[in-house]
Amino acid sequence: MVIIAPSILSADFASLGEQVRAVERAGAEFLHIDVMDGHFVPNITIGPPVVKALRPVSGLVFDVHLMIANPDRYIPEFAAAGADIITVHAEACPHLHRTLQIIKQAGKKAGVAFNPATSPEGLEFVLPMLDLVLVMTVNPGFGGQEFITEMLPKISRVKALLQKEKPDTLLQVDGGVNVNTASGVVESGADVLVAGSAVFGAVDPATAVAELRRAAQS
Ligand code: DX5
Ligand code: ZN
Repeated sequence: MVIIAPSILSADFASLGEQVRAVERAGAEFLHIDVMDGHFVPNITIGPPVVKALRPVSGLVFDVHLMIANPDRYIPEFAAAGADIITVHAEACPHLHRTLQIIKQAGKKAGVAFNPATSPEGLEFVLPMLDLVLVMTVNPGFGGQEFITEMLPKISRVKALLQKEKPDTLLQVDGGVNVNTASGVVESGADVLVAGSAVFGAVDPATAVAELRRAAQS
């Protein structure tokens, strides 16, 4: 069964707690938390205090997507704030193996993300440390962008590697996922669908979670 991970990037920040409760009641499994620093990506979002504030509100798996330069410095804070999974970008980590070690030392699940133009080359060498691989299907920085169709073969390629080497690793897809694109993404091998605007941009986020799940499994 596919895992739905609503991204709070598109939520109403003035009523964040209520919005998170709504998607949890609707059956989402993960809460995707997009952290941007204005350096690695051209946008700024939230930091550990927001993760900490949401932690008592929700039993969802907190899936923290760090789109930041020098993530090593901030991993312990996000871990302490209540992250369950911490995903870093391959492009932001010259010493990716060390960065993943820091996540594991903090007792959290570790993910690595690849931008659309980045080849997942080298993934096999860090696979033993990974719980999740994130294939970006937009250039990170903003919600509401169009799905880059050319990423479908990349999803399949990563899936094939995971199935061969470490089948329990989750394959997550993030960017432009909606009722129109979800089935192709799942057919290509995704286990976890991140959806921001498709969920929190909808009139009723709870209905949107159900519709996305239906579309993903059709
Ligand atoms: C993009 C973020 C995504 C974003 C997805 O930089 O990593 O998680 O929230 O938004 P949608 O689903 O609207 O493309
Ligand atoms: Zn994200």
